[in-house]
Amino acid sequence: LQPQELYITFIDKEGDEHKIAVSKGDNLLTIAQAHDIEMEGTKIYSYTYTYTYTTLSRLTIGEIGACEGSCACSTCHVIVESEDAFDKIPEATDDENDMLDLAFGLTETSRLGCQIEMTPELNGLRVQLPSNTRNLQAKDFSSK
Ligand code: FES
Repeated sequence: LQPQELYITFIDKEGDEHKIAVSKGDNLLTIAQAHDIEMEGTKIYSYTYTYTYTTLSRLTIGEIGACEGSCACSTCHVIVESEDAFDKIPEATDDENDMLDLAFGLTETSRLGCQIEMTPELNGLRVQLPSNTRNLQAKDFSSK
């Protein structure tokens, strides 16, 4: 029996869609990392790395998934596109909610990607990556 293939779509800050085949149990942070999907932490990292606090950024900000999925940062913030889908995801823990409170661009359907595992119920999930002040700043300074 073939394991069921599931799909998730990330919508990046430019509005481009990235539809990715994933497996049950994959979490959104590891999926994004494996497919070079740019989450909040990536931009901050490239901005600080390139233009200002090279050493400092490594120590204090780090990359996407700065806490390696342990629910202690908010660099993996995603916005679930539909309320229906949001309701299918197991509820956030208090720790996740505490971290979300610190996230930029928080919405009613915000979650931390590292805390969402793909299940057959979530097949076809669509999540947006928040654009926020910090990212705009990073973009402004980016030389591309
Ligand atoms: Fe830090 Fe998700 S990677 S909370």
